[in-house]
Amino acid sequence: MKPVIVVHGGAWAIPDAFAEASVAGVKAAAQAGSEVLKRGGSALDTVEVAVRTMEDDPVFDAGHGAVLNADGEVELDAIIMEGKTLAAGAVSSVRNIANPVSLARAVMEKTDHIMLTGHGANLFAESIGVPILMPDALVTKEERKEWEHYKKYIVGVKELFNSQWGHDTVGAVALDSFGNVACATSTGGIRNKMVGRVGDSPIIGSGGYADNKSGAVSCTGHGESILKVTLARLILFHMDQGRTASEAAECSLQYMGERVQGGGGVIVVSPTGDWTATFTTERMAWAAMDGNLLYYGLNPKENIKETLN
Ligand code: GLY
Repeated sequence: MKPVIVVHGGAWAIPDAFAEASVAGVKAAAQAGSEVLKRGGSALDTVEVAVRTMEDDPVFDAGHGAVLNADGEVELDAIIMEGKTLAAGAVSSVRNIANPVSLARAVMEKTDHIMLTGHGANLFAESIGVPILMPDALVTKEERKEWEHYKKYIVGVKELFNSQWGHDTVGAVALDSFGNVACATSTGGIRNKMVGRVGDSPIIGSGGYADNKSGAVSCTGHGESILKVTLARLILFHMDQGRTASEAAECSLQYMGERVQGGGGVIVVSPTGDWTATFTTERMAWAAMDGNLLYYGLNPKENIKETLN
């Protein structure tokens, strides 16, 4: 099996000022994940490494750089899932943790549960020795300024992902050389969200899903819309019906647009290595490593290819 990794840095109207750093960030994440695959590592380790790379990169709305909620605080959501056994772990509304994707993995591996939320997620983090950061440690100066500027406006959530309010989510999907798929998704959610609001990202079947029988998906975009159509599972349903990754992604995003007027983006890999990065927002930074070929893009229909040694 030829291993593949695909990553995204969020589907929204990425302004030119963030464009270069977003593309550099997804390329770095795809390459970090690809190093794991090249060493014979698992799809699960690969997606965790790739998502951690983007959580640590302040250009993305995940981990360091996450957007602020209505109280001016960071609350983080994440999921990780592997396709061999359907094991999954997730955290929501967790605070002051640098890498929620790794906490989600600990929920999967060290508890009998799939999701921990809020205070419980933080208690669990402390109990397993995850460092708890100072309250503002994940907040960038730029985000504090944006939040101060935009908090006076109330807009309908549907407009968020085609305005500069949106600032959405990171994710990764991978297929390893053993034929196993995995996905991971991590986010700070929507700027100025209500305290305690949980979007699609940590919800199994919405923000991500992985099943060796169908493939792996990570979603980004308007969380409430993605939840309504359970976007990750919808895409895999279409693949189970015989559609390619790209066809399934396109028809599912189109359905979400028509049915609930929501925009977003997805990355998908099938158990045979068919993959896609597809979005209906203005832009989505994405990158993929397929063998020694690095693919990436930002604008619709953009697909740049580089050969790496
Ligand atoms: N898609 C991320 C969120 O809505 O929270």
